[in-house]
Amino acid sequence: MQKKPKPFFVLAPMDDVTDTVFRQIVHYCAPADLYFTEFVNVDGLMSVGRPNLLKKLQFTINEGPLIAQLWGLEPKNYKAVAEQIVDGSLTRELGLPEAVNFVGIDINMGCPAKSEVKIGACSALINNRPLAREIIQATRRGAGNMPVSVKTRVGFSEIDLSWIEFLLGFELDMLTIHWRTRKEMSKVSAHWDLAHEVMEMRNQISPKTKIVGNGDVLTEKQGRELADKYNLDGIMIGRGVFHNPYVFADESPWHKKSKQEKIELFTKHVKLFAEAWPPETKSRPIVTLNKFCKIYISDFDGAKELREQLMSADSTDQLLELLDKA
Ligand SMILES: Cc1cc2nc3c(=O)[nH]c(=O)nc-3n(C[C@H](O)[C@H](O)[C@H](O)COP(=O)(O)O)c2cc1C
Repeated sequence: MQKKPKPFFVLAPMDDVTDTVFRQIVHYCAPADLYFTEFVNVDGLMSVGRPNLLKKLQFTINEGPLIAQLWGLEPKNYKAVAEQIVDGSLTRELGLPEAVNFVGIDINMGCPAKSEVKIGACSALINNRPLAREIIQATRRGAGNMPVSVKTRVGFSEIDLSWIEFLLGFELDMLTIHWRTRKEMSKVSAHWDLAHEVMEMRNQISPKTKIVGNGDVLTEKQGRELADKYNLDGIMIGRGVFHNPYVFADESPWHKKSKQEKIELFTKHVKLFAEAWPPETKSRPIVTLNKFCKIYISDFDGAKELREQLMSADSTDQLLELLDKA
């Protein structure tokens, strides 16, 4: 009997979390097969605000393969940004060498945040199929042969698989489905049971579209079991990395790590942060690091007290000094 290919694992895009620094950490611990950037607004990128947004696309050769995730309202701006990605001008602008580029372009049609939904973007596109169509078509025109994918939810107020059917009609290269509606935010368990019907639809409408399932996966094993059960091509993990930066390992060593090893990993994170986002550029404030502190500084004696000290540091130098003494 032919062995089924194993699912590929994807690190979820998380705004202000999965920047180049954290992606490098995850890649160093136990690499995912695929990464996304944080979502970046194409309308902003094509405006005077561009310099402030480029940080969301910044990356190094120590992470990846990487997909650029876009959001926004204007189809012509999706096309223009897709063209800049494909012709390499955007990666040159980021200071990367010529042979390095993104491997694909993803369109965010799932973010449930009020600020995005209010202007009719992201998950609001579930209720505006004419604009969703224009955006996908414009991105495709700009992307040429580069793969284009969509990340979405299973409906806006209610589960509505006609939305997934609509998306499958574009024969996308990949479709990532977070198994919740926009209304559900993250308040209920993800509806993985919908995957059966979705995979049947995929096989009928667009057999070449890779389907990636997403929502509440906390371990590689759990992801593998879900992929097996529903025949999914890939599994995306987001918040699971908060519990375990080795979440993509077959057998995670994280629970066996000593206090010193955890401190060393946080030190690595802080050093990469200082390099990527020097304070004089005002690109990311030091408080950004606080949300990562709990990942590393936990489950050992004195962790709570150490976290309190670390989280009140006001520079990366001070943080490194505290970590060195701990
Ligand atoms: C802090 C945070 C930021 C997020 N930012 C994005 C984003 O920029 N783009 C996106 O498609 N999804 C974003 N998401 C959603 C995640 O990619 C993912 O779909 C969601 O967290 C469910 O997966 P999980 O249960 O594995 O975390 C974000 C989620 C969190 C918690």
